[in-house]
Amino acid sequence: MSGPLILAVESSCDETGIALVEGGRRIHSNVVASQTALHAATGGIVPEVAARAHLRWIVPVLDEALDGAGASAKDVDAIAVTYGPGLAGSLLVGINFAKSLAFVHDKPLVGVNHLEGHLYAAWLLDPGEERDEPVFPLVALIVSGGHTFLVEMRDHLTYRLLGETVDDAAGEAFDKVGRLLGLPYPGGPSIQRAAEAATRHDAAFPRAWLGDSYDFSFSGLKTAARRTVDAARADEGLRPDDPDGRLSDDATAELAWGFQDSVVDVLTTKTIRAAEAVGARSIVLGGGVAANGPLRNRLAAAAAGLGVPLVVPRPGLCTDNGAMIGAAAARRLAAGDLAGLDLDARPSLPLARAEPAVTAPAEAAAT
Ligand code: KG4
Ligand code: ZN
Repeated sequence: MSGPLILAVESSCDETGIALVEGGRRIHSNVVASQTALHAATGGIVPEVAARAHLRWIVPVLDEALDGAGASAKDVDAIAVTYGPGLAGSLLVGINFAKSLAFVHDKPLVGVNHLEGHLYAAWLLDPGEERDEPVFPLVALIVSGGHTFLVEMRDHLTYRLLGETVDDAAGEAFDKVGRLLGLPYPGGPSIQRAAEAATRHDAAFPRAWLGDSYDFSFSGLKTAARRTVDAARADEGLRPDDPDGRLSDDATAELAWGFQDSVVDVLTTKTIRAAEAVGARSIVLGGGVAANGPLRNRLAAAAAGLGVPLVVPRPGLCTDNGAMIGAAAARRLAAGDLAGLDLDARPSLPLARAEPAVTAPAEAAAT
């Protein structure tokens, strides 16, 4: 594989990631320092704590990424960094670090939209792996802790937003319901694990179809989960908010399964309907929730039924990492989309606005 070697930095949320990626596809190294354990005590991310942890880990993560690739910073063709959306303090750590590297080593700087990174994770190849690129037109479902949306791509860097969440992101719903069930943070993997132990599969949770739209809503599901958990606790003689009284493992597993099944059902059904409607030749799944086994399996089966390949990165490339930023950065670099040393954090940066198809805003065009 040929193409530029990009050193990419991701620090938008609670993972410090740095990767070296060649030609927007081949991973040479991809190091992620996760803050999960740090935030487990508070059951969620405290922005100030996250920013400090990025500062603490970013240099060791860089050293390990360069070592892993057998490269030095002077060997790379460009430095890329996530500049939004995300937590302002966390973004600024990565941005200032990347700017310093670009300045000291005299390399071009590329600002990357985090959501574009989740999409382009579908192009990544591990060492030794061979796979064709996703074929356009495609429909991509991105489901993370902060975002849930469906887009159509007819070409690189061009997106038409089909639908998005009108309230919580899917991952946020997993995290909140995980907390309701007394499961460890983050809720997504905990709920998946708990659901695997379910012996009964009849817990019925509502599905928010929102008519024919491709939008999503998870707040009603969350409220229903609270009611169902409270009722199950009452059945077991537990008070609603008593932290010492844990719901039995059986009931927890059954409710975790019911909640997960509802989320997976809605995400799969809308994605397949969108793929049919736009005549997609491939379907891409990305974002942290794409690490969810039942979602991957169900969408893969439905896509196979439609005769359309599903491209979904391995779980470690679905959650936040530097390699996905390197993949998107290669496209931005090829398009001549360079950032200056005045690159600033854009905590609410959108991927795409309403129809018609628009190119994700480059830093230079940012308002
Ligand atoms: O993409 P990501 O790492 O960070 C954001 O950009 O938000 O996504 C994190 C989210 C969390 O809400 C986490 O609970 C969820 O992804 N997640 C999962 C799984 N693994 C991570 N949700 C469901 N099942 C999983 N296996
Ligand atoms: Zn993310």
